[in-house]
Amino acid sequence: MERFATLLFALVFIAACSSRGSEGGEESSKADKYKVETKPTDDGKGIGEVTYVELNSPLDAQMVEHGKSIYELKCAACHKLDDQRVVGPGWKGLTEIRKPEWLMNMITNVDIMLAEDPTAQELLKECLVRMPNQNMTIEDARDIVEFMYANDGQEIGS
Ligand code: HEC
Repeated sequence: MERFATLLFALVFIAACSSRGSEGGEESSKADKYKVETKPTDDGKGIGEVTYVELNSPLDAQMVEHGKSIYELKCAACHKLDDQRVVGPGWKGLTEIRKPEWLMNMITNVDIMLAEDPTAQELLKECLVRMPNQNMTIEDARDIVEFMYANDGQEIGS
């Protein structure tokens, strides 16, 4: 009886997989047209409110300054500005490997990011500590990202 149940389960499972594989043709192109906000692939922007960031060049000095002060107050205990990990990863080079949208979503929506974003999950595996939610606003996160670009050597305007 038990074995039969397992077999049944396996069959249902196989059927489910193969039906996904056989989607296609006209039906699915129609469905694509009306598709709303699903995330079939990782676009590197993370999960959260931030979907588009306009970058400044040169950087905005006031934003950099504000970002730096938040860093010193709320992030420096776990993040260094070079590439060394303390509790969390060092920030050097971060703007070269992550999109600004991803960084801002990580800062403002860390719990969901750790639960669902593949890159954040990899980091959690390496660091073994969950970054706490710091209740950062979108504006704060944007200034921190400006500071991260400065930390990576981008020119700051006057
Ligand atoms: C208690 C320690 C701690 C504090 C405080 C902290 N973080 Fe983190 N942070 C982590 C850890 C640990 C990770 C790696 C992901 C994980 O394991 O949760 C991380 C990851 C990150 C990442 C992704 C790094 C990468 O390599 O992609 C960013 C960006 C980040 N933190 C920003 C911040 C900002 C901004 C602040 C301050 C407002 C902050 N963190 C405060 C521990 C901390």
